[in-house]
Amino acid sequence: MQLTDSQITDYHEKGYLLLPNLFSFEETQKLVEETASLKIKGSSDVIWEEDQTNVRAFMGCHLKNKFYKNLVQQSRILGSAKQLLESDAYVYQFKINVKAAFKGEIWPWHQDFIYWYELDGMPSSRCVNISIFLDDCTEFNGPLWLIPESHNAGIIEAKSASRENDDWTRDVSADLSFKLDADTISKLVSKGGLVSPKGKAGTVLFFHPNIAHASLPNISPFERKILIVTYNSVENVPIAKASVRPWFLVNPDTTPEVETPTSLLSSVT
Ligand code: SIN
Ligand code: MN
Repeated sequence: MQLTDSQITDYHEKGYLLLPNLFSFEETQKLVEETASLKIKGSSDVIWEEDQTNVRAFMGCHLKNKFYKNLVQQSRILGSAKQLLESDAYVYQFKINVKAAFKGEIWPWHQDFIYWYELDGMPSSRCVNISIFLDDCTEFNGPLWLIPESHNAGIIEAKSASRENDDWTRDVSADLSFKLDADTISKLVSKGGLVSPKGKAGTVLFFHPNIAHASLPNISPFERKILIVTYNSVENVPIAKASVRPWFLVNPDTTPEVETPTSLLSSVT
């Protein structure tokens, strides 16, 4: 799949792009079904909510499961990532954020790139988040909130930053280490406004690693699962830092992904 010039311009200007119906309902169902094979208690790549009962996120799934590996090679997302990054790309992070009905917790205001720059040594923000909605995302079930154009601010100092050197668990928790403060958010919103892109399962949201974003706790009876693939340019591989985070936060395999002709539903699991 090829993004049009106006879609590419839109992404670069606003910091996000919403494409409805990029995946079929059957494909999203299969993407959900496969999570059953990932739910292993005690596995460090399964992140739990505070209650230790509900899954918050499945991480690094494409490195363990051939179906998800096939997904990251689908031209619909890999082709678009390569266009936006103007280079070959590899998967830096892969996660399925579950946000369980009634139980899914907050993702406080933050930017993603500050983690990758400060903690992993990624040189620049030449990477892109591609999020596939696995459930309908509505105003009720804790959709992402984004501040349009906030990516233009670059890395914003996170004044409340407090993080023990190698405590990566904070980076995926409801108490994030690099949170943006109220003043900063107010200023960014007064310039760019606030959006919460919504859509049916199968909708895809591209968002820039420097865009300020957040999501509320899910107090609805509806789950809100989204899958996020972060592609990084092969010309932007991290320069290793002393404290390296786990493989599912910083993929050590920087081999570029190659687009596959195998359709998602016929791929082997
Ligand atoms: C969310 O799942 O709502 C937040 C995802 C993110 O911050 O990357
Ligand atoms: Mn984020």
